Amino acid sequence: MMKERILQIGKTGEESLPAITTMAGLQAWEVEYLGRKSELNTLLKSLRDLSPEEKKIVGPLGNSTKQKLIALFDTKKKKLLENSIDWQAEGVDITAPGAKVAIGHLNPLTQIEHEIQDIFTSMGFVVADGPEVETEHYNFDALNFPKDHPSRDMQDTFWIKPDKKAKERYLPRTHTSGVQVRYMEAHKPPLRIIVPGKVFRNEATDASHEHTFHQFECLMVDVEGQVTVATFKYVAETFFSAFFGEKVTVRLRPSFFPFTEPSFEFDISCIICGAHGCATCKHSGWLEIGGAGMVNQRVFEAAGYKRGQYQGFAWGFGMARLAMMKYKIADIRLLMSGDLRFIRQF
Ligand code: PHE
Repeated sequence: MMKERILQIGKTGEESLPAITTMAGLQAWEVEYLGRKSELNTLLKSLRDLSPEEKKIVGPLGNSTKQKLIALFDTKKKKLLENSIDWQAEGVDITAPGAKVAIGHLNPLTQIEHEIQDIFTSMGFVVADGPEVETEHYNFDALNFPKDHPSRDMQDTFWIKPDKKAKERYLPRTHTSGVQVRYMEAHKPPLRIIVPGKVFRNEATDASHEHTFHQFECLMVDVEGQVTVATFKYVAETFFSAFFGEKVTVRLRPSFFPFTEPSFEFDISCIICGAHGCATCKHSGWLEIGGAGMVNQRVFEAAGYKRGQYQGFAWGFGMARLAMMKYKIADIRLLMSGDLRFIRQF
């Protein structure tokens, strides 16, 4: 009878397992009791020829026997795997905690960049970017640099070897200001953007100068009268206070940039000594941060806007300086040195 035969298979299957000691033995067992051509499988397939009453009894029995054998097989397989290596003989303590995998972390400059972006985006600014290899047009011409401006010459700019067929001269951008024009060509005011990015200058390096460094450009433009120097001062003070976690005051000094009019250098109250005077601020109470100004109408024109229609401010500063102030780092070159003894402190 079929019922008896199924019970028998279940029994011999179970009883023959303990004698198996190898994976190969277990595999042979699997073929015999659970394989496609096993007796149990053949019996299960022939169920369809039985009468409904017989099916009711034999069907569930066949299935539960199969499930039981599968469970036995799994347990046995696990046991064999565990025992396949004699851990004790190998001198391995399998209960010891695992070795920690070092996953690394972000460079302090990148951490600072993310922090700056968070503060600006919370003020409604959008992060924009542009190419690191820029055309002379965006890096200089559109920003109202006169043709013979000294910063175009070989002293500051790494020019890319000219290609005779190219219409334009290319250079690793010397600042992020060119992105102002690129962005304005594609967008109409009101607009608020920040542009974090790498810039390159042909400078001798020392404790506060790198030939490759990170700048932050900030641009806010709206119709005439909406964005003034006071707006700039407010946005800058709000940003620096959030960044340093204390009240920071911004001071403007007259300066010159071809792409802003009027132009300023701006300082922040010294966050090291609370503006009382210390070695870092050379006892002035102020720290130099960057350049800024009201966007020159010629830059608007280069971007395709009508003269006199819009007004806005732009400013740029080096990110490394902020990182150095926040973490009290004495030498800018450490940031890009790849020296793990330095990097691991952050
Ligand atoms: N691009 C200027 C620099 O690299 C900084 C700047 C940005 C000045 C925006 C004014 C406005 O020095």
